[in-house]
Amino acid sequence: MAGAAATRLSEVSAQGDLPPDAILFGKSQAMRQVRERVQPLLDANIPVLLQGESGTGKELIAQLFHKYSPWSKGPFVKINCPAIPGTLLESELFGYEKGAFTGAFGTKPGKVELAHRGTLFLDEISEMSFDLQSKLLQLLQDGQFCRIGGQEGRHVEVRVICATNKDLQAEVAAGRFRQDLYYRIAVVTIQLPPLRERTDDIPGIVDFVIERAREKFKTEVKPLSPTLLSRLQRHAWPGNIRELENVIRRYVIFRNERVISEELDRAPQSTEGEEEFFEDFSLKKATRRAVAMVERKLILKVLENNNWNRKRSAVSLASVTEHCSTRFSRPAFHLRANEWSRSPAWWARRSHRKFNFRQHQHTLK
Ligand SMILES: Nc1ncnc2c1ncn2[C@@H]1O[C@H](COP(=O)(O)OP(=O)(O)OP(=O)(O)O)[C@@H](O)[C@H]1O
Ligand SMILES: [Mg+2]
Repeated sequence: MAGAAATRLSEVSAQGDLPPDAILFGKSQAMRQVRERVQPLLDANIPVLLQGESGTGKELIAQLFHKYSPWSKGPFVKINCPAIPGTLLESELFGYEKGAFTGAFGTKPGKVELAHRGTLFLDEISEMSFDLQSKLLQLLQDGQFCRIGGQEGRHVEVRVICATNKDLQAEVAAGRFRQDLYYRIAVVTIQLPPLRERTDDIPGIVDFVIERAREKFKTEVKPLSPTLLSRLQRHAWPGNIRELENVIRRYVIFRNERVISEELDRAPQSTEGEEEFFEDFSLKKATRRAVAMVERKLILKVLENNNWNRKRSAVSLASVTEHCSTRFSRPAFHLRANEWSRSPAWWARRSHRKFNFRQHQHTLK
């Protein structure tokens, strides 16, 4: 990356809380593209929409934008939209005047005001109500807003960065998100790749997390063996970098690779199942893996055929298993009734594919 801003990027991110540039962006092609998109936006005060699965680093990139913005000395204010219920979110965002509602005993400035000359980071923006979306639109148009119960219009200068793990365009198409607001917040969209699409970066992130944990716990930790490292590179990581971080932290605490490999075995996630299948051959393990692989494919097929309706799929699967040999029908194909109500993350792990369940959860009936 060339130019003055590029120099600043590599200088500053080596300090502070952010991982150094080389770790933050890694060396994979997918992240090189992200870096190229981020670079020209650092000095520009325009809204950015960060999209990506959970744990892919959206918040980290938002912090990076703040750190390099002309208002980096100002506040970085984050609002996690789904964490604050309905009407409370409006008062959190825009504040209120004394007497605006029962219990408003004094005036309170909102996060929007607190973010003046800084960055306002709106996490999980798709969860914001339609009503509030129009107020946000006004803010983005001219920096104007009103506290709840207030008469006078107020003005702030703030850079707005939004994040979502849904496909916001699909939300617009489904009528759940305002199109005009979408165009305002998504002046530039940056799509963060899932970790399974940047496996080249895993060794660097692993070393970085070990080093940080080593400093924190003041303990010596051996680097991971090449076997475990390559095992990590084949894992599908539905929880992305956050999940990888947690696994490595457990390694630092237990100082035992077996703990990690057993954990990965319990949630078989290989993106190249067949390769892993032949790696450490034992009849028992191989049978279990073969069954798991067929099971995964079958469940996905049936779900797809049933338009992701889990109840209907359960019925179809029950009839399929009846026709299978007892070996295959036994533990692997048999889904207990309570498993059908598991979370999308659980389904993502079980079905083990590159599919963003959150993005499609409206189709999961
Ligand atoms: N490129 C990276 N290099 C090193 N660590 C990273 C990177 N990206 C994310 N992390 C770490 O992974 C964890 C999750 O990152 P972050 O909170 O930014 O993800 P997110 O996309 O906002 O997740 P969610 O959608 O669940 O809020 C954090 O602890 C962060 O420090
Ligand atoms: Mg986040």
